[in-house]
Amino acid sequence: MAERNVILLGPPGVGKGTHAERLVEDYGLVHLSTGNILREAAAAGTELGNKAKAYMDAGELVPDELVIGIIRDRLAEDDIKQRGVLLDGFPRTIAQAEALAEVVAQLQLTGLLVINLSASDEVLIRRLSGRRMCDTCDAIFNVDRDGVDVGDDCSECEGGKLYQRSDDKPETIAERLRTYYEQTAPLIGYYTQRGLLIDIDGSAEADEVYERVTASLT
Ligand code: AP5
Repeated sequence: MAERNVILLGPPGVGKGTHAERLVEDYGLVHLSTGNILREAAAAGTELGNKAKAYMDAGELVPDELVIGIIRDRLAEDDIKQRGVLLDGFPRTIAQAEALAEVVAQLQLTGLLVINLSASDEVLIRRLSGRRMCDTCDAIFNVDRDGVDVGDDCSECEGGKLYQRSDDKPETIAERLRTYYEQTAPLIGYYTQRGLLIDIDGSAEADEVYERVTASLT
């Protein structure tokens, strides 16, 4: 049975995806990013994707029942028990956290902890505005740090091209931050009360933040 199951919590642009990529490689955890799953569904034009796209483009959360269904089914698969899960972008509401607690108890997943990354709005807005992603492997880059831009070849995979997420426009970023403070930030108190929360300042340089994250897992 897996002994480590990790939730990465934090506002848009704080670095959840960036650190998830490394944690998955270093700890062998299964990466479940609801954002990536929903973007892939939207790009494929599935029923779920078509429903989700309007919410994502508006900077709002996709309805709980859609997201909870995806995660519930995926967590029941064998690899999660064997390797442990890294949840990136889920849960995002109290209802999602409660649904997750039920599934965790049913599946007897142990060693759950929540890493809460934080940074100022100014830092978050700068990072999100400069983010570029690979359309093939979901690798994450930044204009300021990596000197890349839209249309460049991905350096992490064969044939991938970099694009800017449609929700990384200034007006959508502002709405995503508002949504975060209203609906997701209450999870900090929820998990603190349950003794599961580890707070980490995510505003430093990425390697330094990652060191703090891995130190919290030992
Ligand atoms: P999702 O894809 O989960 O987006 P998010 O939570 O808004 O988070 P981001 O992916 O924007 O940021 P991140 O923290 O991963 O930062 P990153 O590492 O990329 O969700 C998108 C949408 O899907 C939601 O708005 C919602 O509509 C829907 N959705 C998803 N999950 C849902 C759920 N559970 N319920 C309902 N709806 C849901 O880093 C950002 C940039 O900063 C990058 O360029 C990176 O290179 C750079 N960077 C990272 N760390 C550092 C650092 N330390 N120093 C300098 N640069 C850094």
